[in-house]
Amino acid sequence: MVAAGRAFGAREADPAMRNPDSLAEKLLGPEELALIQQHPIGRALTNPTESAYEAVGTAVMMLVRTKFIDEKLRQAIAGGARQYVILGAGFDTRAYRFADLLDGLRVFEVDSGATQSYKRRRAEAALGSPPSNLTYVTVDFNRDKLMEALVRAGFDPAIKTFFTWEGVCMYVAEEGVTETLRAMAQAAPGSTLVMDYTTRGAIDFMMQFPELGPLKLLNEWGEPWVFGLPDGQEREFFETLGFEPREVFSMFSKEAVQRYLTRADGTIFGMRAGGPPRPQLSPEAQAAAAELAKKSSAFYGIAELTVTVS
Ligand SMILES: C[S@@+](CC[C@H](N)C(=O)[O-])C[C@H]1O[C@@H](n2cnc3c(N)ncnc32)[C@H](O)[C@@H]1O
Repeated sequence: MVAAGRAFGAREADPAMRNPDSLAEKLLGPEELALIQQHPIGRALTNPTESAYEAVGTAVMMLVRTKFIDEKLRQAIAGGARQYVILGAGFDTRAYRFADLLDGLRVFEVDSGATQSYKRRRAEAALGSPPSNLTYVTVDFNRDKLMEALVRAGFDPAIKTFFTWEGVCMYVAEEGVTETLRAMAQAAPGSTLVMDYTTRGAIDFMMQFPELGPLKLLNEWGEPWVFGLPDGQEREFFETLGFEPREVFSMFSKEAVQRYLTRADGTIFGMRAGGPPRPQLSPEAQAAAAELAKKSSAFYGIAELTVTVS
């Protein structure tokens, strides 16, 4: 689904608003497209007239996410990172897309066994042999010790590292999230992590309104969102676990819109004549969403964090 959001965004005519993941579409063959036809973003790839909120919303969110992480990856390498760990990699294409930039670095893709086997098969078929510096590591964030698995695979904790944990922590139980973060906090000082997240309030909202389109699908697919950061205390949460927040912002904030979604002529990517794309909410859900907006700084946020020098 998220790869479909990137593939859809990569078709954008305006290069400044185009999702940089030019390889996402190649990963989505007929089999993969069939799996996501229930979601508007899956249908949008085969039917350009599909304009449901969820299709546009997914493309908008992926554009912010992809641009931000690509930017931070370049900065981390320019700043001396020599290892790159992609946690919960799914259909992430950066090991291929940035093959030249990553030449000379060790790259690790970490994921659960089933998803990783599928991705490896699909990537090999669609994109060719994996870059020789890429190592696949199988980890269940709810059960396994991340650092032990990485070290067994050749990761060196003394080397400055760039980690990404994109679109993953919401699927992991709280203990798995905190343990995984603690593991990354053991990396060499100056290492950085970029991760996105939702908040506890947003999780509660989803539990209260499980019938809402995309959430219903996630539940049906057996992949519910379960973890959210404490509302309004995201920075403190990261600090307690050994990170110094560098940038923390909501995907739907003015800052995100300005940085990643505003075209040269001032118009905004994904915005329609009547305002931004919005989900169809019942009056009850609208009231709950308004309450949530009061207490939460981010329904969905993204953060760049540095390992604290202890
Ligand atoms: C929505 S996908 C995101 C994939 C990719 N990072 C991206 O943004 O395109 C969620 C990923 O998290 C992984 N994941 C979820 N729970 C996990 C767990 N407990 N242990 C390991 N991986 C997990 C899934 O296998 C999947 O690859």
